[in-house]
Amino acid sequence: RSCAGEYHIEFNGVCHSGCVMAYHGRVLTEKTLNLSYQHSKFGGVVPEIAGRGHLAAFKELLTNILQSPVFSPKQLQAIAVTRSPGLIGSLLVGVTYAKTLAWVYEKPLIAVDHIEGHLFSGFIGQPAPRFPFSALVISGGHTLLVNVEGVNQYTVFGRTTDDSVGEAFDKTAKILGFVYPGGPVIDRLAVLACERGIPPVKFPVPLRGRDTFDFSFSGLKTAVLYHAKDAGLYHPERELITVEDFLAQSDTDILNRTLSVARGFQETIAVIFEERITQTIRASRVKEFHICGGVAANSAVRKLTAQLAERLGVNFRCPEMKYCGDNAAMIGYIARLYMQKGFMLTETPDILNAEPSAAG
Ligand code: KG4
Ligand code: ZN
Repeated sequence: RSCAGEYHIEFNGVCHSGCVMAYHGRVLTEKTLNLSYQHSKFGGVVPEIAGRGHLAAFKELLTNILQSPVFSPKQLQAIAVTRSPGLIGSLLVGVTYAKTLAWVYEKPLIAVDHIEGHLFSGFIGQPAPRFPFSALVISGGHTLLVNVEGVNQYTVFGRTTDDSVGEAFDKTAKILGFVYPGGPVIDRLAVLACERGIPPVKFPVPLRGRDTFDFSFSGLKTAVLYHAKDAGLYHPERELITVEDFLAQSDTDILNRTLSVARGFQETIAVIFEERITQTIRASRVKEFHICGGVAANSAVRKLTAQLAERLGVNFRCPEMKYCGDNAAMIGYIARLYMQKGFMLTETPDILNAEPSAAG
């Protein structure tokens, strides 16, 4: 029985993930260690902690993957790794281990772009991609609108001019006194606000009605900060807390004011995306629209995009929840597409380097 596959490593920020994928794209075994708890009390990712965390966790990850009964390292056809973009410390750990594994097992090494991995994450475990499609990449580091004409054929036509949307979620949560990552916190509070009928704070929608495909989130973050100060919700001297602790500790008034900000922020993000996605579908005339990246896990964004696609008559695709955030399966998926196309992107292991910035 053959289950030839590739081993993939994804260390770019705070997720630490390894996966073995069969040549036909099925995930044979995978393990993701989410190290975000190491950054929670800082309200954002601390680069040095991320690098050291990856280094310390690698043994657990590799042992877990290698113990899998479904493959043996000898059967691997290649090893793929995230080369860019991301935090240099995290990337270096992944690239260095991948080079070592490629050398030890005498396999070719495939260097992959993290964003390209996100772009195809909606296809994992699904039928082969059909082109073209447009995608909104929404993560902690990026906010991009991309037309995908084929593998390695991408046109970026919109991007953030300041913070990424993930950063805006994380900073909003921090302003309100919550731990990192802030996206799931705001999402949960916004859902609670809807369930309890707490009205949203109305924030200004950045770049509304402008003739652009770009995004801007820093003004929204500042508006949240001013509102939080006025509403008595901003206490930077206090330790950041989890939603559970907040719900257990807060009085009804503070709770309602906080829920109202979270709902207002999340609904503003939804309005921003609604405008850009509508423009994109109308301008590109594609038949398929994707969302991907950590923020694609957001309940309001998923719901809105699905409804919008239906209204505008296009196919909508978003990754399974476990493939929204960073994961190694998406790195394997794109590496496999490259192999199938015949461009192995095989790097001589000793010349491959981690690149913190995207190539373009
Ligand atoms: O793609 P990702 O895992 O890592 C990067 O490549 O950056 O994205 C992480 C981002 C963080 O900013 C996190 O707060 C956000 O995704 N995120 C969410 C949700 N879950 C994660 N944002 C909004 N709603 C969520 N449910
Ligand atoms: Zn990512």
